[in-house]
This record gives sequence, structure tokens and C-alpha cells, in this order.
Amino acid sequence: MENDNSDSRTKRRKIALITGSSSGIGFETSLLLARNGIYTYATMRNLSKSQEILDITKKECLPLKVLTLDVTDEKLIQKAIDMVMHEQNRIDILVNNAGYSLVGALEQISMDEIKEEFETNFFGIIKLIQKVLPQMRKQRSGRIINISSLAGRIGLPLVSAYVSSKFALEGLSESLKYEVQDFGIHVILIEPGVIKTNFIKNLKIGKQVITSENGDGNTSSADLPYAEITQKRISAFKPRFEKGSSPKEVADTILEAVTSDKPEFRYIVGEDASKLMDIRKNTSDEEFGKIVMNSVLEAR
Ligand SMILES: NC(=O)c1ccc[n+]([C@@H]2O[C@H](COP(=O)([O-])OP(=O)(O)OC[C@H]3O[C@@H](n4cnc5c(N)ncnc54)[C@H](OP(=O)(O)O)[C@@H]3O)[C@@H](O)[C@H]2O)c1
Repeated sequence: MENDNSDSRTKRRKIALITGSSSGIGFETSLLLARNGIYTYATMRNLSKSQEILDITKKECLPLKVLTLDVTDEKLIQKAIDMVMHEQNRIDILVNNAGYSLVGALEQISMDEIKEEFETNFFGIIKLIQKVLPQMRKQRSGRIINISSLAGRIGLPLVSAYVSSKFALEGLSESLKYEVQDFGIHVILIEPGVIKTNFIKNLKIGKQVITSENGDGNTSSADLPYAEITQKRISAFKPRFEKGSSPKEVADTILEAVTSDKPEFRYIVGEDASKLMDIRKNTSDEEFGKIVMNSVLEAR
């Protein structure tokens, strides 16, 4: 059982580490946890992006410290965890947030690009979890918050590597929660729909991916099998993300997941995600496939 009661009796400050705090969900979550009294290590791979969070921290006198952490670099992961342990001697909350999406038809994205996607969105998370678990077990308490996605529950065209990394994260989380629950550790999945962040700016389009815009115009459509659908999908991204939910909504949900006495295992965030998940429950694979194709290729 989780040892949270003694923590609240002594009013000990909780300690959190978040990955990908330079923008979007990680940025908002780091600030929100700190504003709620949680000592927050906001980590990012590029410290030159830390000015805004540091300015807010200073202005509001928040318990927040910025550390360097690239989730694909095991040495930096170890260094960040060592720093937290040296300063706090415990870790209560790990938010695995860093991630991006690779775009392109499976036939046109390279094995290296797919592996790179998994290094960030999946293997990096495993490395972090393996490093915090011994301490959380010792404490007999802890919360591991994994930022999955609606794309962790349903397949989507042209982002198969991203979807696969999030499905893998769902499977990992669902299995791990059984292993650690008797140590008072909660594993929690956050499943946002479309959120207005830098995600769209940070999309990686596969190097070999040809769209109807970047093709040389001399090649026949038979040689460009995915050009049209890829172009449609890419064109539809921007207007969809413009209308996305706020990253603050995701941060609020994460705060609930880390402070609730009885947290859920899954939290869906955003009306789009809730609606689609409801439809998924009550629709055949064939019908659902039509809905997905209509909705993701439409620029609206
Ligand atoms: N936005 C959405 O619609 C949406 C929906 C569902 C789920 N999500 C998930 O939410 C999470 C956060 O995304 P976001 O929407 O907030 O997008 P974002 O604004 O692009 O933020 C992504 C963060 O991840 C960081 N990152 C990428 N690779 C990294 C690495 N190797 N090591 C450390 N940090 C790294 C980025 O750092 P840099 O600034 O250095 O690039 C950035 O801080 C992701 O896991 C994403 O899959 C997003």
C-alpha cells in the first residue's frame, strides 16, 4: 500500500521529475505542479529553451529547478536522477512526457527513423522507469505518469511508427502496474486528443517521404503511391492543431492524477478524444475505419 498518509501528516513536500519541459504539456505541467507546492525538476534536452520557465519560476518564487535531460542519453538520465537523489533523497512523481511524431507511410520511413522514434517515445521511458523504481519501492510510494495519446488506443494513417510507440507504452504501463502496485506505486496513463502545442512544429517527416508538394512533378502517380494521401494528411494537421485543446487541460489532469488518493489508471483528455473513444467502443472495425479516414484527412 502507498505510504501517502504519513507523508500528509508530516506535510513533506513531494518531489517530481518531468521530461520535455521546454514546451507544451511538459512546460505547463512543470509550472502547475510547482504552483501546487510540489518540488519540480523540469528537465529538457536543450537548456537554451529554459529562459521562460526560469523567468516565471523567479517571478512566482516557485519550487522548480531546471535540469538537462535527453531521454535518449542514458548518462544524462543517470546524472539527473543522481542530482534529485543527492538534493532530495527521494522521488515521488515521474512524468514521462518527452515525445514527437514521425510522419510518413510505413513503406517510406526508414528503420533508423523508426528506431529513433522508439528511442525517444518508448525506450527512453523504460530507462527512466528502471532508474526510479528502486527508490520508489524503498519509499513504498510513487506515481509514474506516462503521456500516451488517443494514438495509443487507435491506429491512424501515416503515423504508424508514432502510434506503435504509444501502443507499446500502453502495453508496458498496463503490465507494469500489476508488478508495482503492492509497493504502493501507481502507473498512470494520460491519453490526450489533439493539443495545441509545438507538437505540429516538431513533427519529423521521413526523409524519403514524397508528398504531392515536394515531388519533382515529372514522376507518374504510379511511382508516387502515397503522395496524395500524405499531402492531404499533412495539410489537415495544421487546422486540426489550431483548434486543439489547451496543454493546461492536460496539466490539470496530470495534477489530479498525482494528487488524487485513488487515481484512475487511464485519463482521457479533450472532447475529441472522449468522443472518438466512445464511438470506438460501439462501432465495428469497418465502420470505425471509415470514420477515422474521413476525420483525419479532412482539413477542418
Ligand atoms: N500535442 C498533441 O496533440 C498530443 C496529443 C497526444 C499526446 N501528446 C504527447 O504529449 C507529449 C508532449 O508533447 P507536446 O504536445 O507538449 O509537444 P511539444 O510542445 O513538441 O513538446 C515535446 C517535448 O518533448 C521534448 N523532447 C523531444 N525529444 C526529446 C528527447 N530526446 N529528450 C528530451 N526531450 C525531448 C521536446 O524538446 P525540444 O523542445 O528540445 O524539442 C519538448 O520539450 C508527447 O509525448 C506527445 O506524444 C501530444
